[in-house]
Amino acid sequence: MEKITISLIKADIGSLVGHGRVHPDIIKTAEELLQKAKDEHLIIDFFVTNCGDDLELIMTHQKFIENPEIHKLAFDTFMKCAEVAKSLKLYGAGQDLLKTAFSGNIKGMGPGVCEMAFEERKSEPIVCFMADKTEPGAWNMALYKIFADPFNTPGLVIDPSMHSGFSFEVHDLFEHKKIRFSAPSEIYDLLVFIGAPARYCIKSVFRNSDNEIAAVSSTDRLSLIAGHYVGKDDPALIVRSQSGFPAIGEILEPFAFPYLVAGGMRGSHNVPLMPVSLKDAHPTRFDAPARVVALGFQLNNGKLQGPVDLFDDPAFDLARQKCNEIMDYIRKHGTFEPHRLPLDEMEYTTLPEVRKKLEKRFESLG
Ligand code: 13P
Ligand code: 13P
Ligand code: MG
Ligand code: MG
Repeated sequence: MEKITISLIKADIGSLVGHGRVHPDIIKTAEELLQKAKDEHLIIDFFVTNCGDDLELIMTHQKFIENPEIHKLAFDTFMKCAEVAKSLKLYGAGQDLLKTAFSGNIKGMGPGVCEMAFEERKSEPIVCFMADKTEPGAWNMALYKIFADPFNTPGLVIDPSMHSGFSFEVHDLFEHKKIRFSAPSEIYDLLVFIGAPARYCIKSVFRNSDNEIAAVSSTDRLSLIAGHYVGKDDPALIVRSQSGFPAIGEILEPFAFPYLVAGGMRGSHNVPLMPVSLKDAHPTRFDAPARVVALGFQLNNGKLQGPVDLFDDPAFDLARQKCNEIMDYIRKHGTFEPHRLPLDEMEYTTLPEVRKKLEKRFESLG
C-alpha cells in the first residue's frame, strides 16, 4: 500500500467571543468543504475540530507532505471560513491569513502546518495535539520527555525496539536553519537549544534504529512572517504510538506536569499549559491558562477511527488544579517578568515605541 499522509493544518480565522472559540458555523463550513474533497477522493478522511479560537483540519490522503492540492484545499477552506467569520463579524476574522493568493504551498502564509507520511502499520495509533494561547516551542519539553527521558518513558529502557533512542530535528526559527541531535548520546547539546523554546523548536522526531518518523510539529511563527504581532502561533503536533513508539500513556505523561509556556494575555505572558478535554478548550481567564487537547485516532487504511478525547480523564485533574494555583500566583506579578515575557519577546508590542518616544529623556550615566 502507498504511504498514508496525515496533514494537520490549522488557522485562527476569527472567533467568538474575542479570541475565545471557533463559531459552530465555521466548523460546519469546513466540514462541508472537506466532505466534498472526500467525495471527490482527494482525501481519504478528515476530522474538523478546534482548540480555542484555532480551527483545526485533520486530513488523511495519499498525496504525501507539502502537496499543492492538499494545501490548496486547506487554504480554500480557511478563506471560505474567513468569509463566514467576516459575515458574522467574528473577532479577528481572517487573523492568520497573512497572504491571500495561494502559490502552491500553504507554509509561510500564516496557517500552521504539521504533516507526516508513513506506511500504515498493522495497527497505527496516533495522537494529534493542538494548543491555544501558546507558541510552537511549547512542545519542546513534552517531546524531550516522551522521546528522551526514561523517567517519563520506560519503553526507552525496557522495549528493545526503542532502546537505540530517537533523533530530534531542531529548527532555529530566527536564522531559519535546522540541526539534528541523536538521543541519548547528544541530550546535553540538545537541551542547550530546546530550553530556549521561543527560538529553537523541535520540528520532528525519528526513531534511530530505522529513521522512521515518530512525531512532527508545526513551527510556523506568524510574527516572523508578518514582521509584527498577529497573535500567538498556537501549535499542533502529531505523534505515532505503540509497537516501537512510545505508548499512549507515555505520550500523555509530560502533560501531567503543567509546565510554563509563553502565551496567555496578548501573547505576552508566561502561563501554565493546561491539558483539557475538547469541551474545556476555550481559555477565558486572562486568555489563559494555555490549553492543550489530545485526540487519539486509530488509522484504518487512512480512515480516522475516533477520536478519543484523551485528556478527558480525571487523572489530569490534579494538573488542571495546579494550573489554577499557578495562575493565581503568577498573575500577582502584574506586568513584571517572569510573568510578562522579556523585552526581546515583546518586540512587536508598544514597548519599543514607548522607548523611542522617551529616547531624548534618557541621560547618560557618565
Ligand atoms: P490567539 O493567538 O489565540 O488569537 O490569541 C491572541 C491573544 O493574544 C489573546 O490574548
Ligand atoms: P486586540 O484587542 O487588539 O485584539 O488585542 C488584545 C488581544 O487579545 C491580543 O490579540
Ligand atoms: Mg485569535
Ligand atoms: Mg489561538
